[in-house]
Amino acid sequence: MNGKVIAIVNQKGGVGKTTTTLNLGYALAEKGHKVLLIDLDPQGSLTISLGVDDNDNLQHTIASLMGMEIEEEQLPSKNEYIITVEKLDLIPCNIELSGIEVSLVNAMSREYVLKCVIQEIRNDYEYIIIDCSPSLGMLTINALAACDGVIIPVTPEYLSAKGLEMLLKNIGRTKKKINPAIDIEGILLTMYVERMNLSRAVKQMIEDAYGKQIHIYSSCIPKSVRVGESSLNSVPIIQYDRKNPVSIAYENFAKEVVRYGKSITDK
Ligand SMILES: Nc1ncnc2c1ncn2[C@@H]1O[C@H](COP(=O)(O)OP(=O)(O)OP(=O)(O)O)[C@@H](O)[C@H]1O
Ligand SMILES: [Mg+2]
Repeated sequence: MNGKVIAIVNQKGGVGKTTTTLNLGYALAEKGHKVLLIDLDPQGSLTISLGVDDNDNLQHTIASLMGMEIEEEQLPSKNEYIITVEKLDLIPCNIELSGIEVSLVNAMSREYVLKCVIQEIRNDYEYIIIDCSPSLGMLTINALAACDGVIIPVTPEYLSAKGLEMLLKNIGRTKKKINPAIDIEGILLTMYVERMNLSRAVKQMIEDAYGKQIHIYSSCIPKSVRVGESSLNSVPIIQYDRKNPVSIAYENFAKEVVRYGKSITDK
């Protein structure tokens, strides 16, 4: 098994990266796929969303693993750092990751540190999904260097759509210089409110500007207060309220990810 690494990226905050990582991972795991989630945001939102509350006291996190990789130390065995929450495996994170971002600046092969960590476990999974922080700094570059595909969640707001240009430019640059294998898997509209003119207008704007080059997932994720409630309960919305339109949309999205990923490999 040579796991597919997918980075969930957008430098804009609050567009649904963490929610998408969690629910895509959960939907894939429910279908029987072996899934690992990596929390690559110093805020540790994904870790907390999975109910790992005392993340400041964890012995191993993605930060400590990347730190060891920078120092060329031997990584601990997998069962020491991978946390299993029901069907999902997680490499957790805490605020120490912001220190790693600083040390990366002077590290050798600084763009490839995360890739080396993932290399150790890649064969154990079918999907490895990385939840990125809202920035285009060294951590996100590490995610782009380590991944096969990028999924970009975008909210239907004007500024969110405008920010896409900068993001796509950065992905293009990374593809050219660091990781020629990156594929933009697609753009996912999140917190979409069908009845709002703004939502529809921004969706149209994104389709007009990028629809020819980039796949835009036909599943749009609607907005629902149940998402906030599910995080309060530390479970994915799919587990919290399976019939909710957000859960149904994430399940359809997961099917699209599998299908579209296959069509890329078949090319
Ligand atoms: N479909 C949705 N409907 C309603 N609220 C949502 C939905 N998706 C996410 N949210 C809420 O929006 C907020 C931001 O979502 P999330 O944390 O997934 O975004 P993010 O891009 O990971 O943010 P950050 O950039 O800070 O990491 C959260 O409070 C989350 O509960
Ligand atoms: Mg997040």
